[in-house]
Amino acid sequence: MVAASLMDTLAPAPTLRPPSAPAAASSAPGSGPAPAAETLIEIDHVDFFYGAVQALHDISLSIQDKKVTAFIGPSGCGKSTLLRCFNRMNDLIDGTRIAKGSIKIRGIDIHRPDVDVIELRKRVGMVFQKSNPFPKSIYENITYGLKLQGVSNKARLDEVVEKSLRGAALWEEVKDRLHTSGLGLSGGQQQRLCIARAIAVEPEIILMDEPCSALDPVATAKVEELIQTLRTRFTIVIVTHNMQQAARCSDKTAFFYMGKLIEYADTRNIFMNPANPQTEAYVSGRFG
Ligand SMILES: Nc1ncnc2c1ncn2[C@@H]1O[C@H](COP(=O)(O)OP(=O)(O)O)[C@@H](O)[C@H]1O
Ligand SMILES: [Mg+2]
Repeated sequence: MVAASLMDTLAPAPTLRPPSAPAAASSAPGSGPAPAAETLIEIDHVDFFYGAVQALHDISLSIQDKKVTAFIGPSGCGKSTLLRCFNRMNDLIDGTRIAKGSIKIRGIDIHRPDVDVIELRKRVGMVFQKSNPFPKSIYENITYGLKLQGVSNKARLDEVVEKSLRGAALWEEVKDRLHTSGLGLSGGQQQRLCIARAIAVEPEIILMDEPCSALDPVATAKVEELIQTLRTRFTIVIVTHNMQQAARCSDKTAFFYMGKLIEYADTRNIFMNPANPQTEAYVSGRFG
């Protein structure tokens, strides 16, 4: 039996759907099953190694467009490793390789020789556990990526700064101090600044690796609220240690154990009616 408190935290069924899947049409009685959500990231039988050590075993998973997908599982089970595969951040670690399988984003294999990795990382932004603003002003943190892309028009940069900070629910708190250091913000504000920086380049996917684990409950609630607003514009994959957080924030949940994907399903099912006994043991707190 899954703890009642956890069931209480389950997110309500999402009401916002992509325009291609109108709720009324797909849920009308007698109209047949709802159309399948569109796959954005297709992971197909991936084996991943750090040197001789295999960290991911035969992972297959379809991540859906404009949904929040949570990765859960005990420490060391491969959540961050898989997340870093999506924008090829593991390429930066010596001795790593995908020995088998493929990862496609919108049907394109991200390891194809003609894929521009810089472009890929622009499309697939990342927010880390420890907020990492650059030691620069709030304004410069947001405009950094755009300037690298050659954008120099001040009006355009101003516009993106405001839009990104509003998008990260930080504008009201910092609009009068845009030219002060990002490092002067509180931990929760710094994490939202990192989210603003990630969305400034208009990515398609945002990867979040335990984005709240260094935050207090109030700051955590703000970031979770923010995820609820971002979900309409971006596809989000979030690694979390906190099962209540997965239950509150996500549409789909993948449970990993020792480098293997044990179960992947609608979040509601993972927490209330898991198919696999290992998933049930984990979500009911028997290990982890
Ligand atoms: N840079 C690295 N070099 C070698 N092994 C690593 C590295 N990062 C992670 N690992 C190993 O890969 C496995 C999966 O780790 P990780 O993806 O960080 O798990 P999680 O995010 O679920 O805690 C672990 O056994 C971990 O020790
Ligand atoms: Mg991790």
